[in-house]
Parts: sequence; C-alpha cells; structure tokens
Amino acid sequence: MACFLRWLLLLSLASAALSLPLWTKRSGLIEMEDSIRLGGNIILTPSEATANWKLMTVKEAEIKEAERTGLFPPSMHFFKARPLIQQSKIFSIVRQMPKGAALHLHDFAILSVDWLVKNATYMQDCYICFTRDGGVRFLFSKPAPVGMLPPGCSEWVLLETYRKKLGDVTEFDKGLIRNLTLLAESPEPHIPSQDEIWRRFEGAFITASGLICYAPVFKEYFYESLKELYEDNIQYIEMRAMLPPVYELDGTVHDPFWSMALYRDVTNQFIGAHPDFLGAKIIYTVHRHEDLARVTQAVHLAMELMKEFPEIMAGFDLVGQEDAGNSLYQLSDALNIPSKLGVKLPYFFHAGETNWQGKDVDENVLDALLLNTTRIGHGYALLKHPVARNLSLKMEVPLEICPISNQVLLLVSDLRNHPAAVLMAEGHPLVVSSDDPSIFGAQGLSYDIYEVVMGIGGAKADLRTLKKLAENSIKYSALSKEGKAKLTEIWQRKWDKFIEDLAMNSKTSEREL
Ligand SMILES: *[C@@H]1O[C@H](CO)[C@@H](O)[C@H](O)[C@H]1NC(C)=O
Ligand SMILES: *[C@@H]1O[C@H](CO)[C@@H](O)[C@H](O)[C@H]1NC(C)=O
Ligand SMILES: *[C@@H]1O[C@H](CO)[C@@H](O)[C@H](O)[C@H]1NC(C)=O
Ligand SMILES: *[C@@H]1O[C@H](CO)[C@@H](O)[C@H](O)[C@H]1NC(C)=O
Ligand SMILES: [Zn+2]
Repeated sequence: MACFLRWLLLLSLASAALSLPLWTKRSGLIEMEDSIRLGGNIILTPSEATANWKLMTVKEAEIKEAERTGLFPPSMHFFKARPLIQQSKIFSIVRQMPKGAALHLHDFAILSVDWLVKNATYMQDCYICFTRDGGVRFLFSKPAPVGMLPPGCSEWVLLETYRKKLGDVTEFDKGLIRNLTLLAESPEPHIPSQDEIWRRFEGAFITASGLICYAPVFKEYFYESLKELYEDNIQYIEMRAMLPPVYELDGTVHDPFWSMALYRDVTNQFIGAHPDFLGAKIIYTVHRHEDLARVTQAVHLAMELMKEFPEIMAGFDLVGQEDAGNSLYQLSDALNIPSKLGVKLPYFFHAGETNWQGKDVDENVLDALLLNTTRIGHGYALLKHPVARNLSLKMEVPLEICPISNQVLLLVSDLRNHPAAVLMAEGHPLVVSSDDPSIFGAQGLSYDIYEVVMGIGGAKADLRTLKKLAENSIKYSALSKEGKAKLTEIWQRKWDKFIEDLAMNSKTSEREL
C-alpha cells in the first residue's frame, strides 16, 4: 500500500514537472488574450480605473444574481428580457454613457412607436383602413380620399370620427402600437419562421410609412428621432434612408432631393437647439428585391445625391431580407458603375445577415469587400469565411453588429453565442448599433450595448470595451478628418463627465460599504 502511494506520488510529481513550463506561461497566455480583446490595450486613467471598479462590481453582482434566478437577460429573448434590462444598474450606466455615433439605423424605425400613435395619428385629416389580415394602413388627405385603397383594405375612415364611436380608445391605440412593432405583449406559443418574422417586420414598415411619408409627420418624425437618440447620449448618426415619395395633404408628392434637403435642414435646426450634437449623414438605400435596372437607376441617383448634398450624403446600400433578395454579385453590373465612371460612391453594404452557409447570398460578405464597402452591415456570417475575415481585417473594414435585431429576426437565440463574441475576443474592428430599435421595442443604442457588455463580450468586458466601442464609432464613421476631430472633442468632454460621475458614485458606495 505504502509502495503504491509512493508510486502515485512520484507519478504526479513527474507529470507536474513535465507540464511545468506550460503552467508558468499560463498567466502570460491569459494576459495575452486579455490584451487582444476589443479595448484590451486601452490604459485607463486613474479616475477611469475607479469608474471601472464600480462598473465591474455592479456587473459581477448582476451576473451572480442571474445565476441565482436563472434569468440572464442576454440569453433570453429580448421581448422577455426587456423589463429585466430596464431594472439593471448596468443598463442605467450604459444609458448615461456618451456613445459617440450610431452608425446602423433605418429611417422609419428609430423613434418609439408611441409617438406615431399618440401624436401622428391624432393629427387632423388622418384616415385609416383595415386589412383582411388584421392590419391597418394610414393616409392623410383633404378632401377625403377617394379610391387609393391599398390592396385588401376596407374603405378609408376618418380616424377622428372612428375614435369617437369607440368604447375603448386606449385599447384601440394599444392595437395600433402592436401594428407598428414586433413586440408582442403575450409571447407566442410557437416561434414563427424567419420568412414570417420578416413579413411582419416589413409589414410594420409599410404601416408606419403611411404616417411618416406625410410631409408634416416626416419632418417631426426625424426631429423627434434625433431627440430620442440625443437623449440616449448619442452625438452623431448615420441613417440608411429609402427616400420614398413624401406627400402633402392635397396629394402633391416630393422627390428624394426634397427629402435630402429636409433631412439636412432639420439636422441643422436640431444642432441649433443642441450644440453638443454633431449631426447626421444619410446612406441612400434601395430594396434588394429590385431588379438590375432599378438598382442601376438607384446607383445613378445616389451619385447625383452625392454631388448635390456633399455635406450630408454618405453613400449607398441595399436593404431587405438577404436570403430572399438578389445577391451583391447578381447586382454587380449596377454596383460597378461608379468605379467605372471614376465617381466616388462609398458603399455600406448589409452583408452576411444569414444563417444559410454556402448559398449564393452567403458570398455577400466577400463581394461587399471586393466592392470596397466602407463598413459591413451585420457581417453575421463573416466567421464562416476565413478569407473574407482576413480581408476585412487587412482592409480595416469594420462590422456593424446589431445584436437585438439578429435575435428578433431569428439568427441567434442566446446572445452569448453571437458570432461577435469571437470577433470581440480577437479585437476585430466593429461597432455596435440597433438597426430598427422602434420595431424591436428598444430605444437608441443602450439596449444593444447592454447585450454586448453583459452577454456577447463575456464576463471580462468592462469600461475599456465600452470606451473602445465609442472610439470605434467615431473612427469608422463617414465623417471627414475635421468632423471626426470635432466629434471626438464633443464626446471626450461628455466622457470625462461620465467618468467623474461614475467614479464619484463609486467613492460614495465604497464609504457605504
Ligand atoms: C405632437 O408633437 C409635437 C412636437 O413634437 C407637439 O408640439 C404636440 O403637442 C404633440 N401633439 C400631441 C397630440 O401629442
Ligand atoms: C392593429 O390595430 C387594430 C386596431 O387597434 C387591432 O384591432 C389589430 O388587432 C391590430 N393588429 C395587430 C396585428 O396587432
Ligand atoms: C476597389 O478598390 C480597388 C483598389 O483601390 C480598385 O482597384 C477597384 O476598382 C475598386 N472596386 C470598386 C468596385 O470600387
Ligand atoms: C489569415 O491571416 C492569418 C494571419 O495573417 C494567417 O495566418 C492565415 O493563414 C490567414 N487565413 C486565410 C484563410 O487566409
Ligand atoms: Zn439594417
């Protein structure tokens, strides 16, 4: 027996000796990983370090609590996680944080839909019709609209008159809110298919467009969107816009040049009232269902808009469900036009927003890079393409990660498994954005950044991660060098204040301890 023990002891000593060189390297290896991570090479100032201590104390407590309850918001569907996130202290810190730029947003899906229902639908001359599948459409008109009924819709009725006849207007308005978001009050028993969720998603856009395309609403909607983003501590935005016809009460219709001028003027008006907001740029987009001829037209229009609105027009992109639309390669004759003409038209392609590896559209991430895209929208599938991944790194083309969008549109359920977890771990260039916050029931960038700092970035994501995301959003924006310098200045001032508040707060709580 003793002999056996001695033998065992010898054996374990031997194996310890054998693995000793590796074990001595362990801490160095971990340190190496820590420094590679997104933001890992940032050296915090003393007050940032104090603020970070506070942040991480709160974060660890929240993770521990989630382990106890089994309810960890990033691993839950956003619609269920939302009320939990709203109670999170990390979320309120993220709300306070100056975020720099929001670089991936869509024109009609920014402002909370409450505004559309409680404000826009209460404006004069608003008509509604009811579709056979339980949806609604809106139209402003004076005199009353004749004909012009969307397919499958009832007669137009004046909303003001209709509401007067209703017993429960609040309930009716709640219904309208449901028509404009995907956020279901009672989660469905079955998970709808990806095609079904995209049908509803685009349906919400169509319903909203009847309201937003009315000129007075169009203007207010954009101003209020800027305000909502500003209140989420965002200093600058780049917005994808389809520039659809905007109509007046008498049926007059405005063209894309009118809309661009309006975006420019409203932005300037907003900056006038909020000098600590830098502004907005527009990325003109067309639906990827469109054929080559239509996309060719759109590319020509985009080039004209670049010439006409150099200060606000940033470039061009295609939108819509990638799996169901044309691939970039199929549209390459149109997309090669600017480079053939020697005209500068920056691209900001959505690419790789798919789970279908190996299909035609799955080459979009590579083709986007070959078309010299400035950034990649989502790039969800990039990990499956080692060559494209290297190219994106070499060309320093960042990804615009939109976690909640990917989850709601059914690419991933537990956000800890989002591919950006890998990309963040290896410090790949990326920014975080929110895509269509109003349709998902989110707001600004805070919910998505919460998911990143709590879930996708793992337990070690900290203040350096947050700082890097803000810095990246400025660095990878379409702003000129001077624009970036100005934005950095605005952001830095707010950041210092944010750090001071957070660090101060942590001193008081240290005393409380
Ligand atoms: C709608 O919003 C505008 C400005 O955003 C405000 O002046 C007006 O009072 C609001 N109307 C309603 C009915 O809430
Ligand atoms: C759309 O709004 C109407 C009116 O409130 C409501 O009856 C209907 O249920 C809503 N549709 C959906 C899909 O929520
Ligand atoms: C992309 O950039 C490369 C190198 O500058 C250039 O040769 C090529 O023509 C560009 N392609 C497009 C589609 O802009
Ligand atoms: C990607 O780049 C890395 C580092 O430069 C290199 O080792 C690797 O072979 C490349 N992979 C591909 C598929 O090109
Ligand atoms: Zn998008």
